[in-house]
Amino acid sequence: MKPKYYVTTPIYYVNDVPHIGHAYTTLACDVLARWKRLDGYDVLFLTGTDEHGQKVEKAAEAAGMSPQAFVDKVSVAFREMGAVMGISNDDAIRTTEPRHKVSSTALWQRLLAAGDIYLGGYEGWYAVRDEAFYDEGELTTRADGSKVAPSGAPVEWVVEPSYFFRLSAWQDRLLAFYAAHPDFIAPESRRNEVLSFVKGGLRDLSISRTSFTWGIPVPGDERHIMYVWLDALQNYVTATGWPDAGAARAGFWPADLHMVGKDILRFHTVYWPAFLMSAGLPTPKRVFAHGWWTIEGEKISKSLGNVVAPAELVESYGLDAVRFFLLREVPFGNDGNFSRKALVSRLNVELANDLGNLAQRSLSLIARNCGGVLPARGAATEEDVALRGAAEALPALLRQRMDSQAFGDALEDVWKVIRAGNGYIDRQAPWALKKTDVVRMGHVLRVLADVLRVVATVLQPVMPGSMGKMLDQLGVPSEARDLAALGTALAEGTVLPAPQGVFPRFVEEAS
Ligand code: MSP
Repeated sequence: MKPKYYVTTPIYYVNDVPHIGHAYTTLACDVLARWKRLDGYDVLFLTGTDEHGQKVEKAAEAAGMSPQAFVDKVSVAFREMGAVMGISNDDAIRTTEPRHKVSSTALWQRLLAAGDIYLGGYEGWYAVRDEAFYDEGELTTRADGSKVAPSGAPVEWVVEPSYFFRLSAWQDRLLAFYAAHPDFIAPESRRNEVLSFVKGGLRDLSISRTSFTWGIPVPGDERHIMYVWLDALQNYVTATGWPDAGAARAGFWPADLHMVGKDILRFHTVYWPAFLMSAGLPTPKRVFAHGWWTIEGEKISKSLGNVVAPAELVESYGLDAVRFFLLREVPFGNDGNFSRKALVSRLNVELANDLGNLAQRSLSLIARNCGGVLPARGAATEEDVALRGAAEALPALLRQRMDSQAFGDALEDVWKVIRAGNGYIDRQAPWALKKTDVVRMGHVLRVLADVLRVVATVLQPVMPGSMGKMLDQLGVPSEARDLAALGTALAEGTVLPAPQGVFPRFVEEAS
């Protein structure tokens, strides 16, 4: 049986329009899902939309629509974003679906049975924009006297009856859990942040609201609806078919990875494992918090009007160039700045020049000088062995990079081989060998074809379309494109299709 791999994106609030920040989180998960499939795993890749809560209720009101009609309409934009970005998710959960109500209700009952829920009253600060409660000490006061959360979101004073989760009782167990699972929170700096937050002491968490109605009712007390984050986090479990132990996807829980932005780390690494442990459910293996994108130096926001729609970028530069850029430009985990200039430069230098030229030069020489037929492998020189060896080492190297979500490093590993390939072709000069040593020319071109095959195979998760084309041109059958297939050499004599450029240079239109 294939090993299982379960990766999740956060579920997106439907009040916003999808932008590259959202596309980024989903893309990172897509690359992991595709990589694991390529490596022989049975993958469940989940994304979805977070459709309850006060923020969505307010957005619906502002749009003059009922919450249900509003979420039905706006959630479409997120599913479309997936299609535009070439996302290969297996499911797109919506928290307004019946399956999710069943699962959230069952979770509540488990927490209650565990003695971790009690009725009380909440009096304190709440930020609707973050759907989060804040302590006085976390807030800053603005010049006009208003208070804001660390995220900059305005807060309001809330007084209402509320059920609480006994989070305070989980401090030691959480610290023991982090100690026993050193890889649970990544990157390291984020782990330290969470540890110091939990060491600072935890207060019980308000987990129900009564001042609005757009949410899942608390079982047995329908004046209350569940706090939207309790309902939201549970989506990851719902999608595995829980509480039906016989569900086809039951074996996927616990998730291997929750990918999140740094802003929602606390929910995923403090509240979530506490809820799960209380409910007697296994905890996810890892939460990775990535950084935030700014656009040409500015925060992305609807009000600033600088939202870059993924569809527009894909239209202008091509899907694979956008996918490549987002993961290549910034070390994963750090904040990054999006600029068109940087995108065009990556496209022209790394895709068109480095990879595109290597492929084009090698394949057109095979077409021209070898009758379009893949040459045989021959006696290898030291240089052949070194280059082929570097390429063959990529799958194992990238396995480690992917398991630590180091996408930028993974791409750099591949580009080292590509640059070495360009150095090799320059030095070997197979075009000159045509006249002096045709046999050696064939061997050189075969080394290049073998290297390109590995490169195109391991890059498929990042650039599925263009790498698929490159594998077509290398004559690699569609069933021989996974990592395991790399163990079998391509058959010499394979007739290759006429080569075509895969990455044209991007030329700025004269304005
Ligand atoms: N609904 C919650 C998540 C619930 S998960 C159980 C939520 N939604 S969100 O739509 O506001 O954000 C979803 C994700 O998008 C977060 O991981 C967030 O970090 C990411 N991003 C939103 N803007 C971003 C950037 N500008 N840059 C990078 N990622 C950003 O939070």
